[in-house]
Amino acid sequence: MKTRPAAPSAARIAVVAAEAALEPAAGELARRLGVPLLAADAWRAGGGGPVVLWCDTEGLAVRGPAASGARPVRPRPPASARAGRDPLLRAVGRWTEVLDATAGLGGDAGTLAAAGRQVTLVERSPVLAAVLDDALRRWRAAGVAAAVRMRLVGADSRAFLVTAIADVVFLDPMYPEAPGGGRSRARKAEAPHLLRLLAGDDGDQAELLSLARRAARHRVVVKRPRHAPPLAGRPPNGSLPGRTVRYDLYAPEEVHP
Ligand SMILES: C[S@@+](CC[C@H](N)C(=O)[O-])C[C@H]1O[C@@H](n2cnc3c(N)ncnc32)[C@H](O)[C@@H]1O
Repeated sequence: MKTRPAAPSAARIAVVAAEAALEPAAGELARRLGVPLLAADAWRAGGGGPVVLWCDTEGLAVRGPAASGARPVRPRPPASARAGRDPLLRAVGRWTEVLDATAGLGGDAGTLAAAGRQVTLVERSPVLAAVLDDALRRWRAAGVAAAVRMRLVGADSRAFLVTAIADVVFLDPMYPEAPGGGRSRARKAEAPHLLRLLAGDDGDQAELLSLARRAARHRVVVKRPRHAPPLAGRPPNGSLPGRTVRYDLYAPEEVHP
């Protein structure tokens, strides 16, 4: 993974090794990230707060509190979508080079890479970047072809996009959680909730969109909840509705040679 100075993570979380044999590697990771290492027993007894960086024999994951009963959440291996049907692939179009400036757990980037796109994933949370880096290494070692087309950069896209150029820039920033959430305890342990705990609500969306429009040769694609207002209130040039989400398309601000 290429690393550039990243914005501090919204949460200072602990690394937990699921078993004693993994403690040396987990301790090294904790040192690298500058966060504490917590014993699995202490986590089971309620330590570690609302989210930890979980280290087990399947790799790195993020995980909610032991009391929630939630399982580790980790990136899913890239899976092919049907090119003509998947709204994300339709939104990106025929272009080959995609910069995913809000990588998260890499689900959308994986869909694009599985469909043959070269994807640069930029993630500013050092914890999420570590989880993604670990998953990419494992997939490559297992011969997952799409993983070879995925390149991770641990950085804040607001800095990265200043000098980057790609056919398409893809943005999927956090969408604010409804007050109170209306979410059950069980649902709160799911990936979006953990991502939000780690990444916070992204408050820099107007800047990100305008930098993305300068970095894109052909288009910017923004993923939004289906009925949400457009990103930063900026009307898109077009939209592709999916079942639960919508892809807003923006033209580049400059034409790149
Ligand atoms: C909703 S998640 C993206 C989920 C992703 N599309 C997936 O399939 O897993 C948003 C992610 O964007 C990251 N992010 C937000 N602003 C960023 C920025 N300026 N630079 C890099 N990453 C950013 C957050 O840390 C968070 O992980």
